[in-house]
Amino acid sequence: MVRKYVYGTPFETEAVIKEVAAETGLPSYGKISLEEGFSFTYQLAEDDIVYGLGEANRGLNKRGYCYISDCTDDPKHTEDKRSLYGAHNFVVISGEQNVGLFFDYPSKMVFDIGYTRENMMTVSCERADLYVYVIEGANAYDIVKQFRGLIGRSYIPPKFAFGLGQSRWGYKKREDFEKVAKGYRENRIPLDMIYMDIDYMQDYKDFTVNETEFPDFAGFVQKMKDQDIRLVPIIDAGVKIEDGYSVYEEGVKNNYFCKREDGSDFAAAVWPGYTHFPDVLNPEARRWFGDQYRFLIDQGIEGFWNDMNEPAIFYSKEGMEELKQSIGKYIEPGETDIPKNELGAQVEALANNPEDYKRFYHNVGGEKIRHDKLHNLYGYNMTRAAGEAFEQIDPDRRFLMFSRSSYVGMHRYGGIWTGDNMSWWSHLLLNLKMMPSLNMCGFLYTGADLGGFGADATRDLVLRWLALGVFTPLMRNHAAIWTREQEPYQFERIEDFRGIIETRYRLVPYLYSEYMKAALGDDLYFKPLAFVYPDDKIALRVEDQMMIGNEIMIAPVYTQNARGRYVYLPEKMKFVKFGKDGVYTEEVLDKGHHYVEVALDEVPLFIRAGKCIPVAKAAQCVAQIDTEHLELLGFEGAEYTLYEDDGIHKDYDHSSNYRKLK
Ligand code: NOJ
Repeated sequence: MVRKYVYGTPFETEAVIKEVAAETGLPSYGKISLEEGFSFTYQLAEDDIVYGLGEANRGLNKRGYCYISDCTDDPKHTEDKRSLYGAHNFVVISGEQNVGLFFDYPSKMVFDIGYTRENMMTVSCERADLYVYVIEGANAYDIVKQFRGLIGRSYIPPKFAFGLGQSRWGYKKREDFEKVAKGYRENRIPLDMIYMDIDYMQDYKDFTVNETEFPDFAGFVQKMKDQDIRLVPIIDAGVKIEDGYSVYEEGVKNNYFCKREDGSDFAAAVWPGYTHFPDVLNPEARRWFGDQYRFLIDQGIEGFWNDMNEPAIFYSKEGMEELKQSIGKYIEPGETDIPKNELGAQVEALANNPEDYKRFYHNVGGEKIRHDKLHNLYGYNMTRAAGEAFEQIDPDRRFLMFSRSSYVGMHRYGGIWTGDNMSWWSHLLLNLKMMPSLNMCGFLYTGADLGGFGADATRDLVLRWLALGVFTPLMRNHAAIWTREQEPYQFERIEDFRGIIETRYRLVPYLYSEYMKAALGDDLYFKPLAFVYPDDKIALRVEDQMMIGNEIMIAPVYTQNARGRYVYLPEKMKFVKFGKDGVYTEEVLDKGHHYVEVALDEVPLFIRAGKCIPVAKAAQCVAQIDTEHLELLGFEGAEYTLYEDDGIHKDYDHSSNYRKLK
């Protein structure tokens, strides 16, 4: 049962696509106050669990902290952080009463979930212009499914995107990519994608390729494809200001960029220096920006990642001017400019300054709207630009697409990666806990930078993190330019890495099948144990084990030097450990607590009582996986319904895509 309430004049975010008639009156849950902006308070019962918020810090149960939906480029996700890259304003209170709440509001929103007062949840924002959706259901899981029905089908990537991707900020030239391909292929480590970070472009200009380093780019793309490797380039939000650069010139000519109040194009420095932001909230500009992806698609590219689209700002022209003036007071007479080395920290402090978000405007249907009023919709609409363009360019084909910044609604156009984590064990655990929350908000194609983006990774961390990554739909090893190289072949005993990655490929038929069932059924791919065992009081509180699809539970090891871990089984399960060379062990464990040993080169999983999963032979790429000869692993007599399609087109809803295995 979904009810919709309207306050003031909401901005149409198009997060929800199902028609729901608006109610008058007040929701029967919580209290609404419109005195100072908007606020909603809800008295939490002692045992209530609060789920949701998608890409947010901390645990699966969001109680006990204050989170702020305010898309932010923050590369240090320490525990004290309140905002990350996405804004996903959906929560489910589960306990005495079960209720889901979606606050459809496009800018900053505060979720104080038992932070100020232990048993009080307060959701507030500055302007009382929003939609509130209240969802009643039998339990949290039921509510989540209803919400997913409201917001529309999740994005479905091509099947190759279920392979492994290797990435690193710092691959600059053709040889760097060839080296990665060689490192994988010569060591017989499966791989499907190599990601291209900003250095493939000419001077960080979107929709250009550095022709010196990549002569005959299309030929190079094809050469990689001949080895079953797809190149996946990055696209940044900011378009470099440079005379003669056609994307810049077209954007200026047609008023497709965000503007200052006086009508001039707003300038913000990002990687290329000063840039303009395409006004992706303006449908015409969005169409134009999306159409630019054609430049790379025409050269054989089939997937992209959209970055810096909070949008991230290093500094604006205004911000820099203000800094110069304030520093100017202290500059020695006669000095005409600020020496670069003195700027340092002060320039850094200009980054992502909230004041800058008040300095530019969008043109939405002829109405000028200041950016800060719809800040959280930028990344969503940049990715929507691409998604809508793909529909035009090749309507039947699926493209790989994921974004850094997002809002609910973007889940229909792409997945997300969880941004600049660190090579920290705590971030491995954060990765695990975030996955079901993201799924609840519609984001199914998700994953973190495996091995960690910032800081130096260690061999054991990369192995353990890959062993979790085996199960995340987006499985990508990515790292920052200044960090230790963390491609599998950089470490000792490469066979351990090969073994873990081969396990991913052995499980792809199952993982893809469960992904598709979740996407087509508005369901979850990652579920908290509580959604499957709602009456099990212990399962209710478990946050470091997750259910995947309908058959398995995972319990990754996330502690350095651990030889295994404690695990709670809500029912009898078969404990399977995949090792190297197709070897695995099986053991039936009873309901209850267990300590399980897991070596660094093993991938553990648990098959639920009475169920089984299909397992393939390892392959070097997704296209080579033999789905005709699958082994069933699990309980005697169990059957599995496999979803399969060509992985390229959008022919999803055929009964012939389902095959019973027994
Ligand atoms: C920030 C992104 O989060 C990161 O993944 C990328 O490597 C850098 N930008 C450079 O493009």
